[in-house]
Amino acid sequence: MTTERFLDFKEQKDLFKVALEEQFTLNEIQQIWRQILAHFLSIPPIEQISMGSHQFSGAESKIINNIIERLKNNEPFQHILGEVEFYGLELKSDARGLIPRPETEELVDWIVQKTDGDPRNILDVCSGSGCIALALSQVFQKAQVYGLEYSHDAIALAEENALALKLPVAFKKVDVLNKEQINPFLEGVSNTSLLDIVVSNPPYIPLKEKVLMDAVVLNHEPEIALFVPDHDPLIFYKEIARAVFPYLSTKGALYFECHYLHLENTRNLLLDLGYKTVEKRKDLQGKWRMLKAQK
Ligand SMILES: C[S@@+](CC[C@H](N)C(=O)[O-])C[C@H]1O[C@@H](n2cnc3c(N)ncnc32)[C@H](O)[C@@H]1O
Repeated sequence: MTTERFLDFKEQKDLFKVALEEQFTLNEIQQIWRQILAHFLSIPPIEQISMGSHQFSGAESKIINNIIERLKNNEPFQHILGEVEFYGLELKSDARGLIPRPETEELVDWIVQKTDGDPRNILDVCSGSGCIALALSQVFQKAQVYGLEYSHDAIALAEENALALKLPVAFKKVDVLNKEQINPFLEGVSNTSLLDIVVSNPPYIPLKEKVLMDAVVLNHEPEIALFVPDHDPLIFYKEIARAVFPYLSTKGALYFECHYLHLENTRNLLLDLGYKTVEKRKDLQGKWRMLKAQK
């Protein structure tokens, strides 16, 4: 008869750390470890503090080892968890949509800080998981929020998120680079009231930068969410800013998340298109990341 040797808390944690220390910082390993205990082993953070004498069962170690393998295979931890927190909302996260980033939370927060009163119509262009639209719908409960997205998969994910959170965002499949699709949509929604907030975090990474990117992004996040042609890196900004201009209310604002190397060019593009004030803002990493434009 063979007896299974259970790992004690320190042994299992050390194995976890050693397996992942080439890929992650110690801080990240610690955060992932805590989330695994909470999410997969149902050990709430408060109980994790006094786990020194815990012996992991074979089943528990198997779960942890399986996650180590997936992480070593460059699978994003958000996909393994199946969820991600964004501006206080718990969103489903999988390969159908881009994983919402902290910079995008900062963009939402900037919009919230800058908006006085109750916006009526809000439009999020290139919605992905729906993170921006859903966060704004949660904050501005009187507003009608719309989300435009081209990927069928991403719309399905955004709609599942809206349903789970009971937030009334209307997602619609529109190719924003196609005037025949975006113009009729804009005409329709602004019939009763012009747009008070338009926001977009569009694809903005020039294809030539693909070689510099991590496998964790390249192998697991949708290509359509990331890249733009090298010869026209501002294509989404140009088309979105031009299309929404006539439908933006006088006090309304257009917000963009930008590639930090292209922010100045994007700002100039907006001025050329007739926007009068264009404000810029850095993200918490100190990179110029966001723009706010008004007519
Ligand atoms: C950078 S991701 C942003 C997703 C989400 N807003 C976020 O911040 O996490 C850009 C999104 O634009 C969508 N997209 C790409 N081309 C598009 C097009 N021509 N029309 C509409 N959406 C498009 C992608 O599918 C992707 O979901």
